[in-house]
Amino acid sequence: METLLSRLGFSLFLLCTFALYDLSSSFSPVDNYLINCGASLDSVVDNRRFVSDSSDSPDSHLSSAQTFSLCAGTLLPGLPQIYHTARVFNAPSKYVFNVKDPGMHMVRLHFHRFSSSRLNLGNSHFHVLVNELVALTNFSGGNLVGTPKVMEYLLWVNSEKLEITFVPAKKSNFAFVNAIEVISAPKDLILETAQLVNGDEIEEFEGLNKQAFEVAYRVTVGGVKVTPFNDSLWRTWMPDDAYLKSSEGSTKVYFGGRIKYQDDVGASREVGPDNVYDSTRLIQSKNGSIPNVNLTWEFPVMEDYKYLVRMHFCDIASISLGLLFFNVYVNGHLAYKDLDLSASTNYVLASPFYVDFVVDADHSGIVSVSVGPSSKSMAYTVDALLNGVEIMKMNNSAFSLDGKLPAVMLLKCWPRRSVGILLPLIALLCLLLSFLAIMHRRKNKADTVPWSKLPMDVHEISPKQSKVQLSNMVT
Ligand SMILES: *[C@@H]1O[C@H](CO)[C@@H](O)[C@H](O)[C@H]1NC(C)=O
Ligand SMILES: *[C@@H]1O[C@H](CO)[C@@H](O)[C@H](O)[C@H]1NC(C)=O
Ligand SMILES: *[C@@H]1O[C@H](CO)[C@@H](O)[C@H](O)[C@H]1NC(C)=O
Ligand SMILES: *[C@@H]1O[C@H](CO)[C@@H](O)[C@H](O)[C@H]1NC(C)=O
Ligand SMILES: *[C@@H]1O[C@H](CO)[C@@H](O)[C@H](O)[C@H]1NC(C)=O
Repeated sequence: METLLSRLGFSLFLLCTFALYDLSSSFSPVDNYLINCGASLDSVVDNRRFVSDSSDSPDSHLSSAQTFSLCAGTLLPGLPQIYHTARVFNAPSKYVFNVKDPGMHMVRLHFHRFSSSRLNLGNSHFHVLVNELVALTNFSGGNLVGTPKVMEYLLWVNSEKLEITFVPAKKSNFAFVNAIEVISAPKDLILETAQLVNGDEIEEFEGLNKQAFEVAYRVTVGGVKVTPFNDSLWRTWMPDDAYLKSSEGSTKVYFGGRIKYQDDVGASREVGPDNVYDSTRLIQSKNGSIPNVNLTWEFPVMEDYKYLVRMHFCDIASISLGLLFFNVYVNGHLAYKDLDLSASTNYVLASPFYVDFVVDADHSGIVSVSVGPSSKSMAYTVDALLNGVEIMKMNNSAFSLDGKLPAVMLLKCWPRRSVGILLPLIALLCLLLSFLAIMHRRKNKADTVPWSKLPMDVHEISPKQSKVQLSNMVT
C-alpha cells in the first residue's frame, strides 16, 4: 500500500513537472537555427536538434571555399557532442540564414578548445561579424580554457538574411566555431526605451531595441545555476555569489509556490524564467529598527561602452502587499526611488517585474547595482530584494562590440582574394602553354626531346589540387 501511494505520488510529481515544462516551452521562435559545426551528423542537446553544417538546407548554408572540419582527439565524458567537432576557416567564410521574422534576434556562438593532433585551436586568431555588427575582434582560442564558452548577442535584423562571417586575423591565421544558434527573440524581450542613468539625472534612452548587445553577465540571485533546459529562451543564469560585495546582513530566500506571470504587467516568462524569480537575496528588519545597509553587486566591464542593466524583482518574501519599499542604485546613483513592487505588479504578490537602466562604463571598469532601504521602508518587514540581474554591453558608434574598427575595415585587413585565384590561373596557363609547345614541336618533328619540363610554378600544384582550387574559383 505504501509503495502504491509513493508510486502515485511519484507519478503526480512527474505530471506536475511536465506541466511546468509545458508552460516554460510555450515560446516557439519563427527563426530557429541550431547548427552543429564541422559535424557530419545532427546532435541533440536538451531536446534541441543541432543540425550538421554539411547537410543541405534551403534556409541556411555555409558559404566558403577554404574550410575543413575538425574532430576532438579525445572525447570528454559529459560534454555534449557539439563540443567534439569544429568548423575551421582558413579564409573569410560565412554562414547565411534566411530571416522569416525581422526584428530582434539572438545569436549564440559556441567555442570549445578541444585537443586535436591535427591543429591546435589555441593558435586561432580571428574576427566575427554578424551582418554589419562587429561581434569579436582579434578573438583568440588561446584565451579559452576548460569548459566551452558561449558568446551571446542580441541584434535587430531588418534584412532577409543574417550572415555570420568569420575572418582570420591574418593570412597565416585561422578561425573556428563549434556550434551556432540563431533564434528570433520574443517581441517583448527588448523594449524601445530604458532609463538612462546619467550621473544623478535619470533620462529617457530611446531606440533601445535598435542597439546591438553582447550578454556580459546573466545572474540569478540567491539561487542555483539555471541551465538552458529550465529557461524559455535556452539561456544560462549563473549564481550571484561571485559578484556580491558583501553578504553581511542579507538572507537568501527560496519560494516553492507559483510565480504569477501577468499578461500586460511586469515580466513575461521569456524575460525571466520561474527558476530566476523563485529565489532572492534580501534585507529584512527583524526588530523595531530598519537595517542601515545596502546589498551591492559589482561587475567588471570595459570602459568606453554603454551597458544595459536589467534588474529582476519578484516579491516572494513579504507576508502581505504594500509592505516593501526600497531604493535601487546603479553605479552609486539613485536610479529608482521608493520602488513599490506591489503597485508595480497591480497588487499581486510573487509577480515578476523588471527595470532597464542604461549606464556608461567609467574609468573604474565596474558596473555596480545596489538595493537598500528607502525612507518609506518599514520595520519588521522585508526592506530590499533582488532576484536577478543581466548586464549587456551595447555597441559603440563603430557598430562594434569589440574595438573601434568597423566591419568594413576588418574585412579590408584581409588580403585580396587575387592571390588565391592567380596561382591556379598561372598554373593553368603554363600547362596550356607547355601543351601547345609540345603539340607544336611534335607537329614540326624538329625536336627529339619528347617532353619539355614544366615551369617551376607548376611543380607546387598537383593536378588534383589545381582542380580543387579551380572549382573554388568557380564558386
Ligand atoms: C590584433 O592583435 C595584434 C596583436 O596581437 C595587433 O597587432 C593587431 O593590431 C590587432 N588587430 C586588430 C584589428 O585589433
Ligand atoms: C530544472 O529545474 C528543476 C526545478 O528547479 C531542477 O530540479 C532541475 O534539476 C533543473 N534541471 C536542469 C537540467 O537544470
Ligand atoms: C535589531 O537587530 C539588529 C541585528 O539584527 C541589531 O544590530 C540592532 O541593534 C537591533 N535594534 C534594536 C533596536 O534592538
Ligand atoms: C547605499 O548606497 C547609496 C549609493 O551608493 C548611498 O548613497 C547610501 O548611503 C547607501 N546606504 C547605506 C545604508 O549604506
Ligand atoms: C549602435 O549602433 C547604431 C547603429 O549604427 C547607432 O545608431 C547607435 O548610436 C550605436 N550605439 C551607441 C551606444 O553608440
